[in-house]
Amino acid sequence: MIKLEKITKTFKMGDETIKALDNIDFVVEKSEFVSIIGPSGSGKSTLMNILGLLDIPDSGKYILDDIEVSTATENQLANLRNNKIGFIFQNFNLLPKLKAFENIQVPLIYKGYTNEDSKQIAYELLKQVGLKGREEHLPMQLSGGQQQRVAIARALSCKPEIILADEPTGALDSKTSEEIINQLEALNNKGQTIILITHDEKVARRAKRIVKISDGKLYKEA
Ligand SMILES: Nc1ncnc2c1ncn2[C@@H]1O[C@H](COP(=O)(O)OP(=O)(O)OP(=O)(O)O)[C@@H](O)[C@H]1O
Ligand SMILES: [Mg+2]
Repeated sequence: MIKLEKITKTFKMGDETIKALDNIDFVVEKSEFVSIIGPSGSGKSTLMNILGLLDIPDSGKYILDDIEVSTATENQLANLRNNKIGFIFQNFNLLPKLKAFENIQVPLIYKGYTNEDSKQIAYELLKQVGLKGREEHLPMQLSGGQQQRVAIARALSCKPEIILADEPTGALDSKTSEEIINQLEALNNKGQTIILITHDEKVARRAKRIVKISDGKLYKEA
């Protein structure tokens, strides 16, 4: 469902050029749970941004569900972004003034759901991630792990085919990290495709497959 061929991405900073991604080949099949591990600055977020259609590569091919992204129309791109991919970030990225359920409503309302329907879906998703009874809490009234669960529920709200998680446990203690990974594993057991980016070996090992990234190059796990 995801196929990257010879993807490169270079950043220019003054006189310096940084090869953030160097000739990356990467395939992810439906229902896979794969982690990408690498040190700081190795290109993980750059790769995630390209996979998530938030950035475009300098060269190479990205085929997402049979669509070659570089030749896709604006409409096709918007459709891919809205329907195929759910994001989870290190810092949760919740809207601080919105309650837990309202954070989940946002993408649904964008998609045209009514207030009532989206609220019902939000409550159901919060129950699914173990947050029944916390629907009306503001992000600051929730623990880090609980906030990340809200973010997972939000990522699931549009029924994405792929979940992209960039250091989802980076801001959490080890016990809470474990809970969040359990949650992701449970989703994968139900068929959810998950790409997990991390620099934590222990977290990475929970995926069914690990690839390593170093200086912008991708390696299969030895
Ligand atoms: N917008 C940008 N402009 C210039 N250089 C960038 C930009 N984004 C990333 N880089 C550079 O590209 C390289 C890869 O960065 P990236 O953010 O992908 O690393 P990362 O693996 O996600 O690191 P971390 O674990 O610290 O999040 C780094 O050397 C970084 O400085
Ligand atoms: Mg990063």
